[in-house]
Amino acid sequence: MRICTEDLTHIYMPDSPFAVSAIEGITVNIEAGSFAAVIGPSGSGKSTLIQHLNGLLKPTAGRVVIDGQVVGENKVELIALRRRIGLVFQMPEQQFFAESVFDEVAFAPRNLGFKPKQVDELVYQALDLVSLDWKTFARRSPFQLSSGQKRLAAIAAILVQQPEALILDEPAAGLDPEGRRNLYLLLSRLNQEKGLTIVVVTHRLDDLCALADHYLLLSGGRLVMHGPPEELFSQDQKLRRLGLDLPPVTRFMHLLAEKGAPVKRTVYTMEQACREINCWLKKETGS
Ligand SMILES: Nc1ncnc2c1ncn2[C@@H]1O[C@H](COP(=O)(O)OP(=O)(O)OP(=O)(O)O)[C@@H](O)[C@H]1O
Ligand SMILES: [Mg+2]
Repeated sequence: MRICTEDLTHIYMPDSPFAVSAIEGITVNIEAGSFAAVIGPSGSGKSTLIQHLNGLLKPTAGRVVIDGQVVGENKVELIALRRRIGLVFQMPEQQFFAESVFDEVAFAPRNLGFKPKQVDELVYQALDLVSLDWKTFARRSPFQLSSGQKRLAAIAAILVQQPEALILDEPAAGLDPEGRRNLYLLLSRLNQEKGLTIVVVTHRLDDLCALADHYLLLSGGRLVMHGPPEELFSQDQKLRRLGLDLPPVTRFMHLLAEKGAPVKRTVYTMEQACREINCWLKKETGS
């Protein structure tokens, strides 16, 4: 699914003394099957932008174009669009309402009129996709899961609708390192194996950017940079000015390079750093 915005602007409470211009003139192009990371400091317009991508917010100016079709005001089309583009809110567990994980995930297919046997199959498939063992979890209350499990159950409740694209707002917030790693692995798998277009909002430029094939950097409601992750990791000063931190391993490589070591600065995983340092040591020792 190709998701584009053209000169997209959103003003909250327009024509009032409380008007807030949240995003301004944003033109982006997210190709089908790609994995985009939307980054930027707090208040830069990330959540506002992604809520336009499945028609939850209506543009003040500009437009959103999905697979060549302009997202309009037709209610039936909007409902169909929201099924094709799943949006997972930050802290989605706050929206749980059902008594069991099964009922939570079954809500959409039941609503669409699927027969009980089909609902069962769809729910088990969705739980399987997010690696929640249904025997253990299906009958548990969604409120009594760990925060990582809650996040996965919320994602299953979206995946059950078999969307073509998945948009997630800060999905790793509040998760421990293992929970974050598992979540990123899941997103990577959905992208690589199921071909889902993924758009993830984050504050953190760490492991996620190693997965994303491009990033969109927002500041003050404007798109200030976009491109492949490597490019972002060379912009230390600019990121710091925006209040964003490079991952520790990238900062370390910047420091080494500043001290004269012949290493690349655009390194963002431990594996890349080890390779760079190994090459440097081999050169030094002539081996
Ligand atoms: N419902 C709303 N009504 C009025 N102003 C809003 C509303 N939602 C967001 N804003 C304002 O719009 C701007 C962009 O907010 P948005 O939530 O999109 O930022 P964000 O990048 O997602 O921030 P964060 O990283 O803190 O989640 C901010 O100035 C915010 O105060
Ligand atoms: Mg936000």
